[in-house]
Amino acid sequence: MITVAILGGGFMGASHAANYKALGDRVRVKTVGSRPSTRAAAVAESLGAELNPDLDAAIRDPEIDVVDVCLPTGLHRQTTEAALAAGKHVFLEKPIALTLEDADAIVAAAEKSDRFFMVGLVLRFWPEYVELRRRIAGGELGRPLAVSTFRLSPPADWNQWMADPAQSGGVPVDLLVHDFDQMNWLLGTPRKVYARAPHPGHVVATVDYDGAQGIGEGSMAMPKSYPFSSNVRVLCERGVAEYGFSAAPAEDGGNIGPSDAPRGLRLYPADGDPVTVPVESTDPWGPEIAYFVECVEQGRAPEQGTGAQARLALAVSLAAAASLESGRPEDVSA
Ligand SMILES: NC(=O)c1ccc[n+]([C@@H]2O[C@H](COP(=O)([O-])OP(=O)(O)OC[C@H]3O[C@@H](n4cnc5c(N)ncnc54)[C@H](OP(=O)(O)O)[C@@H]3O)[C@@H](O)[C@H]2O)c1
Repeated sequence: MITVAILGGGFMGASHAANYKALGDRVRVKTVGSRPSTRAAAVAESLGAELNPDLDAAIRDPEIDVVDVCLPTGLHRQTTEAALAAGKHVFLEKPIALTLEDADAIVAAAEKSDRFFMVGLVLRFWPEYVELRRRIAGGELGRPLAVSTFRLSPPADWNQWMADPAQSGGVPVDLLVHDFDQMNWLLGTPRKVYARAPHPGHVVATVDYDGAQGIGEGSMAMPKSYPFSSNVRVLCERGVAEYGFSAAPAEDGGNIGPSDAPRGLRLYPADGDPVTVPVESTDPWGPEIAYFVECVEQGRAPEQGTGAQARLALAVSLAAAASLESGRPEDVSA
């Protein structure tokens, strides 16, 4: 059995808690490390775990095998470095960090340690995105030429810090990082980014790849009445693959509740009728947790959500943020 400390008892802490719980007796969450709050207490209680406001003590606890970091992004580096130094495996929520300096320090600490490290690049595990990538890599639609995405949300209503770009990185770092990682996965090495903000908190970014193009729209400024929605459409030489997701508001707070969108990936081949490829109907945040637990159980390093992948996605995000400032296309830092 693997013993886990979840750091941060907020929105993602609650999601991770439910997904560890779903793994039954393979995992025990012993501790929720978080400053005292009603919601952190509820997360701890849902697991029969202790709530410990002393994050260092939670990290150093010799019974803990895995530290799962669900704290605000500005705390990612110090907690991940401390956990790796204490000999713990680390699952870290996205984005890896707010700066490339911090991301590089985290990646270096993970490489130096003999523990496993993974970043929650959740779309790499989200069933429809997994199927999309499998189909594209299999070549049935030909080479991918363009990836168009959107990720549109009302302002987060479960915390204050996310609305402050100094703490969250704003739309390019906090939201679009998901889609930039997908573009990288599908299209290869990102070269240049041009981003504009037609409205505060609403960003449109184009990303140049070698012989292919990405375009992503991200918003933290949709009306409250607009459901959290995301979409990915991949134009290939011989057809199109597309998946859309839309979530109802959560009953207990948070604007991402259960999805009312039909599951499945749509394929539009150049020479045939459209088809819907069904996928397993799971909590889409579950498979990344199950994968990391399996890696730890089996003693094998994660191949998805690596530090290098997370660092590259952040590099695109930061180039987009720089482009918003400069008004010009910006190179993606190698
Ligand atoms: N993969 C995804 O789909 C996804 C979605 C959303 C967020 N995220 C990422 O997940 C991470 C956490 O985001 P979130 O939305 O879960 O944030 P959140 O709801 O604000 O939760 C953060 C938790 O950490 C606690 N906390 C904050 N500062 C602390 C400190 N200095 N010491 C101890 N505890 C502290 C908060 O306490 P209080 O309860 O007192 O506020 C809260 O329980 C971020 O990196 C974010 O980008 C990922």
